[in-house]
Amino acid sequence: MTLPRILITRALFPEVVDHLSQHFEVEANQADALWSPAELAERLQDKEGALTTGTQRIDAALLAACPQLKVVANMAVGYNNFDVAAMTAAGVQGTNTPDVLTETTADFGFALLMATARRMAEGERLLRAGQWTQWRYDLLAGAEVHGSTLGILGMGRIGQGIARRGAHGFGMQVIYHNRSRLDPAAEAECRAQYVSKEELLRQADHLVLVLPYTAESHHAIGAAELAQMKPTATLVNIARGGIVDDAALAQALRERRIAAAGLDVFEGEPQVHPDLLTVPNVVLTPHIASATIPTRRAMADLAADNLIAFFDGRGALTPVNRIG
Ligand code: GLV
Repeated sequence: MTLPRILITRALFPEVVDHLSQHFEVEANQADALWSPAELAERLQDKEGALTTGTQRIDAALLAACPQLKVVANMAVGYNNFDVAAMTAAGVQGTNTPDVLTETTADFGFALLMATARRMAEGERLLRAGQWTQWRYDLLAGAEVHGSTLGILGMGRIGQGIARRGAHGFGMQVIYHNRSRLDPAAEAECRAQYVSKEELLRQADHLVLVLPYTAESHHAIGAAELAQMKPTATLVNIARGGIVDDAALAQALRERRIAAAGLDVFEGEPQVHPDLLTVPNVVLTPHIASATIPTRRAMADLAADNLIAFFDGRGALTPVNRIG
């Protein structure tokens, strides 16, 4: 029996590669070479399936070069690297990894909020630079977290996880804005109040972005939005680069038009806007919000199970599009 051929585009847990090798003829990339779009197309040309991460773009040009491709399993909950319309038109199933990373990512969002509000990275840099000379009443005095107003833009599963942490753990007033309002039971569980985007920007002491990246959410936070925030506010982005206008943010941080930002994602990552690297009041992390070993393993397993279920004829477990 000939096995379907699949490509694993980036280094992956060896056990998951072994597991997939029992079901497929696998071309893996354990050396983690970063392929150009042309190299990706060349390797994918004779494959029926792929396991990707958010950094490989699956678009009409690639699909045209890979006519045998039937399914692409993204090891991420976000799938803005997929041109879903082009995939659907080509009859290619896309899948993502929801749920398994919700709580871990919400933990990280909250950690980044706290590190940012309480100026932890600035403190560590000062200490390592040998500049800590004395206790001082206002040394790196930051913003209060408990009892403050937590704003959440994008109230999906992860946003709700952050809301629960803020409301139940830190006694925060939670306000949110989302494309659609949550049902009353979910609002009650998160103790969250729906507000307009303008109110969210004006009232939040700490604003966390957890919305998907789409053409509509591109630069959802730019100079105009930053100007509406409190000068004491903290902004946290664990969603996607491109939702924030990084140049405008760097300028707002430099001019102290908001107090601080915590960023796990960047426009054009892994490049980081050079101005963000020079402003002190920003905490920068390299897209690691879901990065615990158990969660990354659960994401890899779910991506693998999507491929196995699809080729078994059971249908994808967590599809992002409907095909014929
Ligand atoms: C990571 O960014 C993800 O979308 O899972």
